[in-house]
Amino acid sequence: MRFLQPLATPVVLSLLSSLAGTYAFSATRRATVCNGHAELCDRSFGNVTFVGAHDSYAVGTNSLFVNQDYNITQQLNDGVRMLQSQAHNQSGVIELCHTSCTLQDGGSLKDYLTEVKTWMDANPNDVVSLLIVNSDNVAPSEYDTVFKAAGLDTLAYAPTSASLTASGWPTLGSLIDSGKRLVVFLSTTADFNAVPYLIDEFTNIWETAYDVTDTTFDCNVNRTNGDTSTQMYLINHFLDKIVAGFPAPDPDKANTTNAVSGVGSLGQQVQTCATQHDRNPNFMLVDFYEYGNGSVFQVAATANGVTYSPATPVATPGGSSSSSSGSSVTSTRNEAVDLRIFPAHLVGSLAVAGGVMLGALSLF
Ligand SMILES: *[C@@H]1O[C@H](CO)[C@@H](O)[C@H](O)[C@H]1NC(C)=O
Ligand SMILES: *[C@@H]1O[C@H](CO)[C@@H](O)[C@H](O)[C@H]1NC(C)=O
Ligand SMILES: *[C@@H]1O[C@H](CO)[C@@H](O)[C@H](O)[C@H]1NC(C)=O
Ligand SMILES: *[C@@H]1O[C@H](CO)[C@@H](O)[C@H](O)[C@H]1NC(C)=O
Ligand SMILES: *[C@@H]1O[C@H](CO)[C@@H](O)[C@H](O)[C@H]1NC(C)=O
Ligand SMILES: *[C@@H]1O[C@H](CO)[C@@H](O)[C@H](O)[C@H]1NC(C)=O
Repeated sequence: MRFLQPLATPVVLSLLSSLAGTYAFSATRRATVCNGHAELCDRSFGNVTFVGAHDSYAVGTNSLFVNQDYNITQQLNDGVRMLQSQAHNQSGVIELCHTSCTLQDGGSLKDYLTEVKTWMDANPNDVVSLLIVNSDNVAPSEYDTVFKAAGLDTLAYAPTSASLTASGWPTLGSLIDSGKRLVVFLSTTADFNAVPYLIDEFTNIWETAYDVTDTTFDCNVNRTNGDTSTQMYLINHFLDKIVAGFPAPDPDKANTTNAVSGVGSLGQQVQTCATQHDRNPNFMLVDFYEYGNGSVFQVAATANGVTYSPATPVATPGGSSSSSSGSSVTSTRNEAVDLRIFPAHLVGSLAVAGGVMLGALSLF
């Protein structure tokens, strides 16, 4: 090979200059900071760790069906980049509800998507994912109608095929540059030929167990419909407690659950999973994301090899600084309040719901 050396330099130079010409001609925009970090622009979407808000729409106080304290605008402002939700068909309208719309109704998908659109328009250098649990198997065309009504279909990325390996995803920079920086996963009914931007979850992502009540948080595959050695993966890192026989969110342990290290912490599960699967999780779903004062975002930054340096501190734990709801709750979340309202809440709801089977009350 040595005798080719004199030729190599001119050949490489001319190749580079022609590439540069092509590049200058075709590039219209070049993001220099992606999801808050220059280092992430050249990383495949499938090689980034994102914090996700479990049941992101289930916001409020005094309810066993609440998983977050802050609305999705605040979640996004604080650094959440996957919004998970549970969609139901409520008399022909897609509503975001917890288990049943009679028990908890977090509003319409249309309003939710409109809030996402507003935030994304104001934050053009961020890639955001949605994970929609399609509880009533609503058809993609019906979702498409709502995405169009919210103006989000034009921001949604349509992959080149129905399922991609983790390394097959575009970089964050190219998603941002192309303007297609919303990545939408649907748990059931996705149809690549009908609506290509509604991406099938389980052929693209595998998940760990959910609704766990012990702090082990193992990293075993719980649900998938694909090749787990190459898929992206999601860890369900939210701890439940059993209340009157049902799993319910456990805000009292959220500081520990969301922590950077220690037994039952997010940091610990990430380490366990990285060891077991030779790569970090792509998505980490948490409850009450602000507990830990940004610890969940610090875990993500460490996994991504970037520095955690928030421009502003994350919201105050428990939603105590939120005044928009008109709630009289001014201190952190109160366990006694939750328990006190539970019997009336459950009995009333069950009386209305009538046919809801207790065994079907999975809170995921
Ligand atoms: C979201 O909550 C914040 C407080 O955290 C509030 O200022 C804002 O008005 C809310 N936004 C929407 C769209 O409800
Ligand atoms: C949604 O509910 C409406 C009325 O309740 C029904 O007509 C429609 O078939 C349902 N759609 C799906 C996809 O289940
Ligand atoms: C998956 O997780 C659920 C909820 O934690 C559990 O009931 C189920 O047995 C798990 N399934 C597998 C295959 O691990
Ligand atoms: C969680 O930590 C915050 C400080 O960041 C503290 O104010 C709050 O009381 C803690 N909550 C619980 C339930 O331990
Ligand atoms: C991204 O790639 C690096 C280098 O191979 C790896 O250490 C890391 O775990 C990957 N992260 C994800 C989320 O795949
Ligand atoms: C929370 O974290 C911020 C940095 O993000 C820090 O400035 C602040 O002091 C922390 N607050 C508490 C109560 O630990």
